[in-house]
Amino acid sequence: MTNRIARPLNSCCAFLAAALAIGAALSSALLAQSAKLAATPPMGWNSWNHFAEKVTDADVRAAADAMVESGMRDAGYVYVNVDDTWEGERDAQGNIHPNGKFPDMKALGDYIHSRGLKFGIYSSPGPKTCAGFEGSYGHEAQDAATYAAWGVDFLKYDLCGLRSIMDLYDPGQDPSKASAIMRDAYAKMHRALIATGRPIVYSICQYGVDSVWEWGEDVGGNLWRTTDDISDSFRSMALIGFSQAGLERYSKPGRWNDPDMLEVGNGGMTADEYRTQMSLWAILAAPLLAGNDLGKMDETTKSILMNKDVIAVDQDKLGAQGFRLGPPQVWARTLADGAKAVAVFNFVTDDVPQPVTVRLRDLGFSGPVHARDLWTHKDVGLIRDSFTVTPPQGGVVMFRLSK
Ligand code: GAL
Repeated sequence: MTNRIARPLNSCCAFLAAALAIGAALSSALLAQSAKLAATPPMGWNSWNHFAEKVTDADVRAAADAMVESGMRDAGYVYVNVDDTWEGERDAQGNIHPNGKFPDMKALGDYIHSRGLKFGIYSSPGPKTCAGFEGSYGHEAQDAATYAAWGVDFLKYDLCGLRSIMDLYDPGQDPSKASAIMRDAYAKMHRALIATGRPIVYSICQYGVDSVWEWGEDVGGNLWRTTDDISDSFRSMALIGFSQAGLERYSKPGRWNDPDMLEVGNGGMTADEYRTQMSLWAILAAPLLAGNDLGKMDETTKSILMNKDVIAVDQDKLGAQGFRLGPPQVWARTLADGAKAVAVFNFVTDDVPQPVTVRLRDLGFSGPVHARDLWTHKDVGLIRDSFTVTPPQGGVVMFRLSK
């Protein structure tokens, strides 16, 4: 492991430098331990995209119920993650408590577990979260212990308020100092999580600042956000999703690039556009965290989120993130049994759908392959040299090709 934290700092910051040198590097034993927590990209639900700051205990319980009743849990979605705005005040001993929307976090965790699901929570390495609630700054070990006592299985740790601290030590002159503070803060919480003895998946959220994919593993991240926030529009989703080309070399089992949560079912895109998000995220080996109101899913939304063929691509054991094969937008992913998932996207919304031809030799195949269409769930038959498809506007055609 490289210690990318140690950098020359000027004398005024010698104390800080020493602290960082001690604090930043995580032992390979710790890292090996945490890598096991997410052998495949985590799947579940998060409250933010639909409920945002309005989320309540009742909403989260209803989401857990819907995950079971809709079949989402059985399709692999297990994490029920409460995002920002659950936080209340600290008591005289510094222990964090939930606010009035969440009367009893331990009881909520127990309820989620009783439904065969896992419990996720959110905090910030800064004094305040993005929504202005209490963060974990200066209380990392205490908060990690509290989360473990509540039965938490997943922590999303969102940079936000730490920016004020980063600016304090480095008001803009030397970005490497600010970066070192950030990395140290993430490593610190990872150590605190490990010290609880409870397996807690660690989700780093800092929007890809300072190429997090190059050091997310060093600070114990199981997943790291690679971009700014997604929103429920084709433009936002496509900009984020298609910009992931080239990041595939930073992802592997236990350590995933995270292009943010799913918007499927939230209403701002067409069904074809949501199929694009699901397919692209599966090619990218991205975490699949649904962000819709699970209690109000129509059949189309269910068929997209619970497409078992596409989920199988996302969860493929090899854990090799896919890559962009070439223009216009043809992406492929190598699977554990030597098969390949191939997705051909039509990402131009105001254009007439065009046929796209994919040659087998560009995918590394010599000789014929068997093809299955992962959205119609039908066998396409044998393909000898190439295939030509015309994805619908904003949509996708996705095949699994095997010898
Ligand atoms: C953002 C984060 C979102 C959500 C929000 C909560 O920074 O990217 O996913 O967590 O904060 O305030």
